[in-house]
Amino acid sequence: MPVVVFRTRGEVYRGEVKENTNLVVRAGIRQFPFPHLRYECGMGKCARCACRVLAGGERLPPPNWKEKKQLGERIDAGFRLACQLWIEHDIELAQDELPAQP
Ligand code: FES
Repeated sequence: MPVVVFRTRGEVYRGEVKENTNLVVRAGIRQFPFPHLRYECGMGKCARCACRVLAGGERLPPPNWKEKKQLGERIDAGFRLACQLWIEHDIELAQDELPAQP
């Protein structure tokens, strides 16, 4: 089962998830990474769930059009929208403040 390492506000949380898991859906049903993951719409519209991928990003599919629209050049800095990712492998994410669009 994929292991998710989730960093936020100086803390590190770790949890196992089923394959093909969406972290925002899980947080919505109060499973890890609840209550630490910040999110809102769950539909790629608000960017509240943006996370920086620290490890495992090479195995993710390329960003979809919603991520490109919300994140723009911040994708190059490793940001993805957690609500648009289905986790199938180990991954490490950090939820920092999302930098402003350049
Ligand atoms: S929760 Fe709104 S974009 Fe992901």
